[in-house]
Parts: sequence; structure tokens; C-alpha cells
Amino acid sequence: MSLAGKKLLLIIGGGIAAYKSLDLIRRLRERGASVRAVMTGAAQEFVTPLSVGALTGEKPFTELFDAASEFDVGHIRLAREADVIVVAPATADLMAKMANGLANDLATAILLATHRPVLVAPAMNPAMWTHPATQRNFAQLIADGISAIGPNQGEMAESNETGTGRMAEPVEIVAAVENLIAIAPDKSSLKGKRVLVTSGPTREPIDPVRFISNQSSGKQGHAVARAAAAAGAEVVLISGPVELPDPSGIKTIHVNTAAEMLKAAEAALPVDVAICAAAVADWKIDDAAPEKMKKANGGPLTLCLSENPDILSTIAHHKRRPKLVVGFAAETEKILDNAKAKLAKKGCDWIVANDVSPETGVFGGERNTVHLVTREGVEDWPTQSKEAVAGALVRRIADTLKRAGK
Ligand code: CTP
Repeated sequence: MSLAGKKLLLIIGGGIAAYKSLDLIRRLRERGASVRAVMTGAAQEFVTPLSVGALTGEKPFTELFDAASEFDVGHIRLAREADVIVVAPATADLMAKMANGLANDLATAILLATHRPVLVAPAMNPAMWTHPATQRNFAQLIADGISAIGPNQGEMAESNETGTGRMAEPVEIVAAVENLIAIAPDKSSLKGKRVLVTSGPTREPIDPVRFISNQSSGKQGHAVARAAAAAGAEVVLISGPVELPDPSGIKTIHVNTAAEMLKAAEAALPVDVAICAAAVADWKIDDAAPEKMKKANGGPLTLCLSENPDILSTIAHHKRRPKLVVGFAAETEKILDNAKAKLAKKGCDWIVANDVSPETGVFGGERNTVHLVTREGVEDWPTQSKEAVAGALVRRIADTLKRAGK
């Protein structure tokens, strides 16, 4: 894919991997992008503004309070004029500032002021990367809708250590930028629309300390909620128990059981679009024990289960039926046949079918290979990140509503 005509803003953080950002600039420009660079104070200790400027063809921006650039291109303009902002290397310090909304230098002020897609390429020592504070900050950035590439595993430039922390290679960063541009939603394509998303597993209690649940991480559903919000929709996210932070700016309702999820979903109606991505437990335990159950002399335990309500089907047959009802189908075999049968059985408009057999690593993983099953037929989508699947799905939804004049 070409990046012709695209305006990229590259924020170079202060890490040893900053030397790779020079190659990154060259590769981005080779694909036709124009690149403006911003360097933090620390970055200038690793590479000089002269080298960066020679490659971008323009003096890099370094100061928040620079009389010349504040009158010319200040941080707000730098933030707004870019199609994509790339932070490479994204140091632990820079990510901590971003996650907390600090804005005490030009780089962080731009990152706080922008509404454009942001891609971070973390790079740091493995101990810093695995530190809970960095992991917390990184998770917050992802929840805020920021995309990331890497870090990779390997040897560190500054020591003999190996581990996770190497910045992704420039070619990988370029590919991630291309992907981000391809999936970037039109900011107003779902403006004025209300979208309901269910996400994550449900938990059905056996007793006060035990439950039945499943492997769903909620990553795909949460990504769909973020993509819909990024397209301008008012989103209600109903989430089962997940380890993901609530996406910023999205009303998130937390539930445990399928019955609670159904109640919250019905309460959210009317909506224009419902996307049921939750992995709802199919059964609940009849008469969950009010107290913790004790072992009974080595004898077997019999649990009596009954079927849970089907949230997707209830919404699809509701008197306040949304204009478009989308389900997901997690299958381990005969994916398309099962998905087509589900489309008919549940009365929804589309099914996003995915293969969740263990070898695919879909559950809990970052990538997904899906097929969009509609009444008109089946589309096979390429293997892509869950973010990209969400972006593509939201684009399809916006197009469909627009074409139908809804
Ligand atoms: N779904 C739902 N409520 C349920 C079960 C499923 O809303 N009680 C929704 C899911 O959110 C998903 C779709 O139905 O959008 C299909 O879920 P899946 O687990 O693949 O299908 P099931 O209906 O559970 O069928 P089976 O387990 O027999 O394959």
C-alpha cells in the first residue's frame, strides 16, 4: 500500500532505539508520506536534530514554547494536521506521561491535543517493560484507543540482555502505519447513532465462590465498542468480567450473569445497531447454593443446568429491534455452515464467524480471522488484528446504514 499524500507526525522519544527512527523516516518517505518530526529533549541525546531534519527535509520540532513555531505551527496544529501520529521509540516515561495525560513538553502536549490515530512502538529494557507500572500504562493506552506495534523479543542494543523490549523493526512499523490508515474510521460516519455492544464472557455462579464461565477475553468486543465510538457513535458497552480497563469515553455497564446482561441490554434499547460479541454462557446452574458447597465424602457432584436466555435472539426479535443486529459465532468446526444456521435461527442480520479452535490462538490473542455472513452471502476477511476487524466491521455498518438511508 502506498502512503502517498499522507502526513505523518513522528514523535521520537529518548531511547537507544531512536537510531532506528532515522531508517523509519526514510522508509515512510519512500512510500510517499511526508514526515514531520518532533523530538523530546532526551531523544536529542541519542540522535541529533540535524540528522532527523536531513531525512525529513524539515527542521524537527523540539520546543513547546518556541516563539517561532508557536506563531507558525504550534502544538495544536501539529496535533491536528497529521493523518497518523507515530511514537517511536515510545519509552516507558513517554507512555507513562501519555497514560496519565501529562503535557509538559511539546511531544506530550501534541499527544494530549490530538484526535488523530496514534501508534506507539514501545522500546525499553525488558525489566522496565515487564514492570507492573509500564504494563498498567500500556493497558491504559490500548483502552484509550491507541494502537501499538511491538515490542519484540531479542537482544537489547545497550546490554547483553535478551527479553521483550526491542522496538519493532522499521518495516513492521511502516506496515502498522499502513494498517492504521486503512482502518481509520471516518470520524463522523456513525454520528448521531446509538450502538449497543456486548463483550466478554458471563459467569454463572455455582455457589458464592465458584462459577461456570469461558475463555473469552473481551478484546474483540471492546475493540468494536472503541471503533464505533471513534466513528462518532454513542456507545453502550455491556461487559462481562474481563481484565480490560473500561474504554475511555464509553458508557460501560458491568455484569456477571447472562440474565444481568440481558436486562442491561434491554434497558439500553432503543439503539440503531446492536453488536453481540459476548460469549454468553449457554447454561446456568439451577438453584446456585447460597453458601459455599462442601465435598460430600468423595461422592460425585451433580449440577443441574438450564439454558440461559439468548440475548442476541431476544434483541433481534424485540419490538424495539435495532436497524441492524450483528452476532458473532465462535466455532471450532464447520464454521460457515454453523454460522449460516445461527443467522437463520437467531434472526439477526449478520454473523461474524470466527474459528476459535485452540490452535488459532483467537481466544485471548490479538489476531482474528473472520467471515462476514449476511443474507446475501459470505465474505472472507484476511487475518488481521482485532482492532482492524473492529474497524472494518464498523465501516461496513456505517456504509450499510447510509445506503439503506437509515
Ligand atoms: N449469544 C447471546 N446469548 C446467548 C448465547 C449466545 O447473545 N445466550 C450470542 C453471542 O453473543 C453471539 C452469538 O449469540 O453473538 C453466537 O454465540 P455462540 O456462542 O457462537 O452460539 P450459541 O448460540 O451459544 O450456540 P452454540 O454454543 O450451540 O454454538
